[in-house]
Amino acid sequence: MRLSDCHNIDDFRKLAKARLPWPVFDYIDGAADDELTKARNTSAFDEVDLVPDVLAGVGKIDMSCTIMGRRSALPLMLSPTALQRAFHRDGERAVALAAEKFGVWFGISSLATHSIEEIAALTSGPKLFQLYVHKDRGLNASMIERCQQAGFDALALTVDTIVSGKRERCLRSGFTTPPRFTPSALWSYATRPRWTLDYVFGPKFRLPNLDGYVQEGTGKAVSIQEYFNTMLDTGMDWDTAARIRQDWGGTFALKGVMSAADARRAVEIGADAIWISNHGGRQLDGSRAPFDQLREIVEAVGGEIEIVLDGGVRRGTHALKSLAAGATSASGGRLYLYALAAAGQEGVERALQILKEEIERGMRLMGVTSIHQLTPDRLRWR
Ligand code: FNR
Ligand code: LAC
Repeated sequence: MRLSDCHNIDDFRKLAKARLPWPVFDYIDGAADDELTKARNTSAFDEVDLVPDVLAGVGKIDMSCTIMGRRSALPLMLSPTALQRAFHRDGERAVALAAEKFGVWFGISSLATHSIEEIAALTSGPKLFQLYVHKDRGLNASMIERCQQAGFDALALTVDTIVSGKRERCLRSGFTTPPRFTPSALWSYATRPRWTLDYVFGPKFRLPNLDGYVQEGTGKAVSIQEYFNTMLDTGMDWDTAARIRQDWGGTFALKGVMSAADARRAVEIGADAIWISNHGGRQLDGSRAPFDQLREIVEAVGGEIEIVLDGGVRRGTHALKSLAAGATSASGGRLYLYALAAAGQEGVERALQILKEEIERGMRLMGVTSIHQLTPDRLRWR
């Protein structure tokens, strides 16, 4: 299978599986417990149908929108994800450059493998920094200050990771950051020489946004579960979020809001956006899918705050359904991560091109010329 054989996101998943050692693939692909929520995040979209209009004159259409104060060419964002150099040697650089080319938002994680400064210097496109609140307050302050200096467009505080979900694929594989060669996976590393040579002879794997504060994850190998459970602040609450909002002072989002009541509190602390998200099913298994929660959250706070639907998005029509149900934008991680792992920047660009064409085709077939025409009356719930 080659990149040119990839025609949808699931094809990139297959190619990534062939090219990555299994512990790395399972870190991306895996989720918590029985992975029910991960599956539901995507299947939730199947329970609603689009109702097209015809003879609408769709020669010219506009897919652009404004998200958190910046113009986006598509109603689609690339969610922040950790450790990208473990997936492809170019890591976050590849994703940032592909996002810039397509005029869409991307985010880097606190646990990114390229620094805040390097990413800011690389692209003037819309970019956010995802903050994990650590027990080490100096580290939190340092990351916020560095983002201010570097001119990031927004800060997203992740609130669904107060402890780690139980990721059983990672427990079995022993996946760590930095990745280590474990005996049970040696064959897999040996039979993926492209990945293994890049990892061994490429630039040293680091998490530069933690520099000067935390050894774990860079100098000392730990699992993500262990990292979360020892480094992050389990005392984080609404006061913490409000304080970070103040300290940052710029465009601010809460990532991982799932209830209408919490969405209301996000409005009260002055957040600009919420990401309805369950972290791609990697945290609380058995929790509702973002798309299932969208309507009640739109009912509670629609018009008062931007609402990003994050998780399960694999098709252009998933984005169209999200917008019709009231979201400002759709967003996703695996929709570009499989492609990054399969083929770096070229892969991410191909995934974005496919999703762009799916959105464009879907809008024409729906008979809409702008995303504002995607309204709830264009949906039927089964
Ligand atoms: C993530 N996600 C994530 N979220 C976050 O706030 N900080 C992070 O460092 C990461 N890291 C991360 C790594 C990997 C491998 C995955 C798959 C996901 C969650 C991510 O931002 C997003 O919420 C989910 O990926 C959405 O689900 P889908 O689109 O993957 O189905
Ligand atoms: C994850 C992180 C790092 O989901 O947020 O693995």
